[in-house]
Amino acid sequence: MTTSSARTPAPSYVRTPAAGFLNSLSVDRPLVMYDIIGSIAHAEMLGTVGIVSTAESKALVTGLRQVAREVSSGTFGWRDDLEDVHTNVEVRLTEIVGAVGGKLHTARSRNDQVALDERLYLRAALLGIGNGLVGLEEALLTRATAETDSPMPGYTHLQRAQPVTVAHWLLAHFWRFERDIDRILATARRANVSPLGAGALAGSTLPIDPAQVATRLGFDRSFENSIDAVSDRDPLAETLFDLALLSVHASALGEEVVLFASTEFGFLERTAALGSGSSLMPQKRNPDVAELIRGKAGRTIGNLVSLLTTLKGLPLAYDRDLQEDKAPVLDSVATVGAIVESLTALVVQLRFDAGRLAEATSDPALYATDRVEQLVAEGVPFREAHARIGQSYADRGAPGPTVLESNPVEAVRRRSSPGAPAPSAVAHQCLTARTRLVAHRASLSSLGRTVELAEELLNEEKR
Ligand code: ARG
Repeated sequence: MTTSSARTPAPSYVRTPAAGFLNSLSVDRPLVMYDIIGSIAHAEMLGTVGIVSTAESKALVTGLRQVAREVSSGTFGWRDDLEDVHTNVEVRLTEIVGAVGGKLHTARSRNDQVALDERLYLRAALLGIGNGLVGLEEALLTRATAETDSPMPGYTHLQRAQPVTVAHWLLAHFWRFERDIDRILATARRANVSPLGAGALAGSTLPIDPAQVATRLGFDRSFENSIDAVSDRDPLAETLFDLALLSVHASALGEEVVLFASTEFGFLERTAALGSGSSLMPQKRNPDVAELIRGKAGRTIGNLVSLLTTLKGLPLAYDRDLQEDKAPVLDSVATVGAIVESLTALVVQLRFDAGRLAEATSDPALYATDRVEQLVAEGVPFREAHARIGQSYADRGAPGPTVLESNPVEAVRRRSSPGAPAPSAVAHQCLTARTRLVAHRASLSSLGRTVELAEELLNEEKR
């Protein structure tokens, strides 16, 4: 292999004084391994169909693997003058393998190349977040299983409404994250289409085989329309929506932890897990972690709006505006990864104050509906029972104490309709939740296999 960069033609895009403005290297560098993986599959395909010789294809693949080793060992010399990650890889490859490096980009454009890199990146990123979410669900479910007999007030309008249990409350959050995993898996499935072979926008006159590249990289199929393939950013937009909604869900749990750990509620002990102290006030134990989880939703919503705004009204096919697609996605993936990790640790360490919960659930106001339903069970029409009980609360603040508020555990056991907080119903809920977790694990591991299949291309002739 020659290493003479002297006779190596570097990619010669039009030089412009705006080079710095056009440069995307600081943003797209994290895509480098996916760029190399995609190039290996492309180089193999060029060899298979005879656009380059078998020896040339092998030289390109071997050289690309060396580039990958340089990147992972930190010896790769990033060049800011080369505009983006794609050009950095191609130029270094050509330094390593010599003139044959100039054949790598045959029948390919950076337009289909960047779209491919993004889909490879997204699969791995969605897998990482999905796996993190499974851990969070596991934590919520474990905590819930131990708290099925712990009554707590349930709220609407943030006013005490009806009795629930700590388990039922935790599981309410579980189901939100359960739908988040579902969405993430669906997004990954729709994203699993290879755009390589679309070229700049109109395919190629050469006998390329996009389906071979797709199969080699673990995609379900290759694109149907070359114009759509280079302009489609739906997988990125969907990912940003999924992550924005996930962080909205996390923010609601964060907010409830903040509230419940306040002196006013006192349902949660203010353990160190919730945050840190104040630099000024020695008595403070602030729920910083929960607050920051609540606060970070602002960023992920902003990232979604940012990409949708970039995409709105863009003409087909590729436009340079699309370069702005990466920063919001990378930021949301990192932000949400951190949110899920911190939230999981937080859930594991939540300590409930049984005394405060008992005090709160002995409030007769929580059982007004139960009283109405007792009358209904005795044959009183609901509206009449509602009016009678409503009047008695208005007259005396509450009717005389009954078994309900003196035994909240018993009271909540009576709320045994499907999906309700009674321990019997919650046991059923836990079972369904467990089943969903198992299904998600299976789907994530098949997504994991597609990610691994692509990453195996970096290894020397293992296959
Ligand atoms: N840096 C570009 C991007 O992220 C790569 C594609 C450039 N394509 C082009 N025709 N200039 O979108």
